[in-house]
Amino acid sequence: MTKQYFTYTYGCQMNESDSEVMAGILEEAGYTRAARVEDADLALINTCCVRRTAENKVWGLLGSLGHLKKRRPGMVIAVSGCMPQQEGVADEIRRRFPAVDLVIGTHNRHELTRLLARVETEGPVTEVLPEACCVPEGLPVKRESALRAWVPVMYGCNNFCTYCIVPYVRGRERSRRPENIVREVEALAAQGCREVVLLGQNVNAYGKGLSPRINFAGLLALLNEVEGLWRIRYTTSHPRDFGDELIEAAARLDRVCENFHLPVQAGSDRVLRLMRRGYTREGYLELVRKIRGSVPGASITTDIMVGFPGETEEDFAATLDLVRQARFDQAFTFVYNPRRGTPAASFEGAVAEEVKSRRIQELIGLQQSIGRELNQAEEGRVHEVLVEGPSAGNPERLTGRTRTNKTVVFDGDPATAGRLAAVRINTGRLTHLEGKVVGKDEG
Ligand code: SAH
Ligand code: SF4
Ligand code: F3S
Repeated sequence: MTKQYFTYTYGCQMNESDSEVMAGILEEAGYTRAARVEDADLALINTCCVRRTAENKVWGLLGSLGHLKKRRPGMVIAVSGCMPQQEGVADEIRRRFPAVDLVIGTHNRHELTRLLARVETEGPVTEVLPEACCVPEGLPVKRESALRAWVPVMYGCNNFCTYCIVPYVRGRERSRRPENIVREVEALAAQGCREVVLLGQNVNAYGKGLSPRINFAGLLALLNEVEGLWRIRYTTSHPRDFGDELIEAAARLDRVCENFHLPVQAGSDRVLRLMRRGYTREGYLELVRKIRGSVPGASITTDIMVGFPGETEEDFAATLDLVRQARFDQAFTFVYNPRRGTPAASFEGAVAEEVKSRRIQELIGLQQSIGRELNQAEEGRVHEVLVEGPSAGNPERLTGRTRTNKTVVFDGDPATAGRLAAVRINTGRLTHLEGKVVGKDEG
């Protein structure tokens, strides 16, 4: 009987990519994917700790898997990723959930097979490495989608924004060699993958320390030449490092999509300084203007936080005002939570929970009205859509995405899945666009 595994993934796309690598490693070792956790011999939880809500989900899940294990005593429970990489958390997991067999961090996922073998012979194993040994290459990947692939280009972050745990749990910036990235993307395109999403906590720091010298714009130029690849996306870029060279590259390179995800976090200079973001409100708005000037039709998305320590009504009003001026297509909004060991966790002026909830509601309300207006403004326009397949909400219709990363639900031929279609938008909704095929492009 082959062993079966079941994975849970929390957090960012980098974590989803890591889970695909761990699934690849497991399948290479002979495991198959279980349809339900109840059938699994191995339950792997790849965790996130960027906010308290992400951690709470994992604590809850560990409780229910502990119960399941009482009925399936042979089941191995493994915890990986950012949560155990924090000081003391691996021990806390062990203490609260003795049913857990393996605890690893973010720096040794590529050794999963060796670690599981140790569990088999020795019993429970905890191995959290303080830092990465290297940039592992050539690992097997079990991808969720044949059409679109996550491709990490750099790992770690050196920015140390004062609220953020990521640099502590992901280590220092390290970039993959361009030839390895190009080879991976070429192989993907040869297998029919049409879109890649280049991943990094801060992709515009790509290439630091590599020789010969290369930067992110240079990497985009290399990937733009890969035959059979239609679309290149990337996330996340830091507004501070988003220079003219990168804007020009995005404007010039035909495969690079017209979508810019630029987390602003706050609209008040005082708060931005306390967050150590390295740009001002005006600098950010200038960047938005430049992008709109150089890349017609670009969509701009962002992350925003409310309730940073000491955030006053005036600071919050500055965030709302920035949102009105920037007119984001979409914003991911968060309530600030202190993260242990980060500078902001000891800042004074904690904002009361009810104030945070009121502010986030107000922010979401404003952003929704802007997002809806922008989507309505798409009505009548024709977009190139990469057809994914039947829409989950309505299998009679198809779904896909525009180059600007908007979801489109439309009427068309299901046989066009995997191709590009020209879709005329007839309705702009809050969360997506609706339309009808006007003709086929390529493919
Ligand atoms: N590397 C990316 C993403 C980091 S985490 C970047 O630099 O933008 C994703 C988002 O989570 C951040 O953009 C921020 O808005 C939010 N976030 C990070 N730390 C947080 C905290 N302590 N409380 C609430 N939100 C947080
Ligand atoms: Fe966190 Fe800032 Fe690094 Fe993003 S750039 S991962 S917010 S420290
Ligand atoms: Fe979370 Fe780790 Fe990503 S903390 S957001 S999974 S880098």
